[in-house]
Amino acid sequence: MKTLVLDSYAKLNLYLRVLNTREDNYHNLKTLFARIDLKDKIILRLRRDSQIKIICRHPDVPVDETNLCYRSAKLIQNEYNIGKGIDIEIIKRIPVASGLGGGSSNAAATLLGIDKLWQLKLPRSKIAKLARKIGADVPFFIYNTTLAEGRGRGDIIKPIFSKQPVRLWFLLAVPAIKVSTPLIFTAWDKAKVALTRQKNNVNITNLARVKSPGRFLTGLLFNDLERVTTKLYPQVKTVKEEFLKAGLGANLMSGSGAAVFGIVPSAGKALSLLRRIKRKHNTWRLFAVKTV
Ligand code: C5P
Repeated sequence: MKTLVLDSYAKLNLYLRVLNTREDNYHNLKTLFARIDLKDKIILRLRRDSQIKIICRHPDVPVDETNLCYRSAKLIQNEYNIGKGIDIEIIKRIPVASGLGGGSSNAAATLLGIDKLWQLKLPRSKIAKLARKIGADVPFFIYNTTLAEGRGRGDIIKPIFSKQPVRLWFLLAVPAIKVSTPLIFTAWDKAKVALTRQKNNVNITNLARVKSPGRFLTGLLFNDLERVTTKLYPQVKTVKEEFLKAGLGANLMSGSGAAVFGIVPSAGKALSLLRRIKRKHNTWRLFAVKTV
């Protein structure tokens, strides 16, 4: 085996509480991740030498050693003293710096793919440990699960397997801005005293037992960072208002933004709303997506 082509899915945060600031300046979170079918492609090719090379045509994706896929490959080389090299091609579709976890997902796909190509046969727990070193959102993508609770920095993952398969459709809108996650968390640090304490004690894992996961999730929707990002980027508010006008009251910003998703009853509904909103806001990127 010399080449591997991998799907690298995006995530949404259906719930996100910021609990407190840690000594390492990260924040403890309680979050619910959902994997969606919006995806990038990662193509891994073995090299004859020991170099790591990133190939990506997207202008906002770095191809140097700061790229999360590069760092993932380098980490495995260093940890396991490996002299093999790799070409990593990234075909980008997930909007960059938008709260959808694209870069983290690419890193996870790289770790999982290299484990196969370099025939390391690492246990999943080891790969998750490596993932944690790359970024807080990377471990979620290591577990092959649609839904998971994230604790700690968001990197301590508990997969949720519900009684009923959870099939949710969303309309997703990403305004033409890039949001810096550290900036949003710093702004949260300054504003936290003024923030509400609502929806604090939700037991996310109840999702595994409820009869109607869709209704449970609609009631759960909450994101502590939404207020913070909206203040700095009013475009997020515009998206939310547009969604509300379209009848999508169940909407939320994902991660630190600026992507906003609304729960829709069907793929058809998502597509008809997408066309309507696209006509009015042609700079937004719009997607009809579902959990996967
Ligand atoms: O882990 P990652 O590099 O993706 O995180 C980017 C930045 O987001 C961190 O440097 C930190 O400023 C912030 N962050 C945080 N708490 C988390 C996750 C991210 O403060 N749980």
